[in-house]
Amino acid sequence: MEIKNHMKKISVLFVCLGNICRSPAAEAIFISLLEQKGLTDGFIVDSAGTGSWHIGKKADSRMRIAAERRNINILSRARQINNKDFDEFKYILAMDNSNFRNIQDLKNRTASTDFASIKKIQDFRSVFNEQEVPDPYFGGDEGFDYVLDILEDSVNGFFESIS
Ligand code: 4NP
Repeated sequence: MEIKNHMKKISVLFVCLGNICRSPAAEAIFISLLEQKGLTDGFIVDSAGTGSWHIGKKADSRMRIAAERRNINILSRARQINNKDFDEFKYILAMDNSNFRNIQDLKNRTASTDFASIKKIQDFRSVFNEQEVPDPYFGGDEGFDYVLDILEDSVNGFFESIS
């Protein structure tokens, strides 16, 4: 008999629309938190977009620069969420209501198991009142800092909720 489940990693997927601004930032913030706590080995962390426009691209340079100022490195390349993610990720965390609905729809249409728990990252907020992570893509530079502020709050809250 295998005693495997006790050692199983906790898998977390952050999802936005393009996978070049909000979800790569959330992913990097979560990885940075795990590194500070020495817990990296216990987790699988990734991000994805519901859309396909930016597949293979690095995160938006405005977001990478804003994150670097906080010593957070955003290294991910954009990919699109797919049906296998619902079997592989325990927690799938949407940035806004539209992402949440699109992820639910995709799960209902394509997932082969009910493994994944789909939630909105702002359900875990404590300092900021935003119910959604605003899309910074078409706005000014200050929008990227604001997204990082609210994600540091809610990603931390998510971590507390599972520990
Ligand atoms: P994200 O931001 O969903 O936070 O990655 C966006 C990036 C690109 C686009 C929209 C949102 N776009 O329309 O190309």
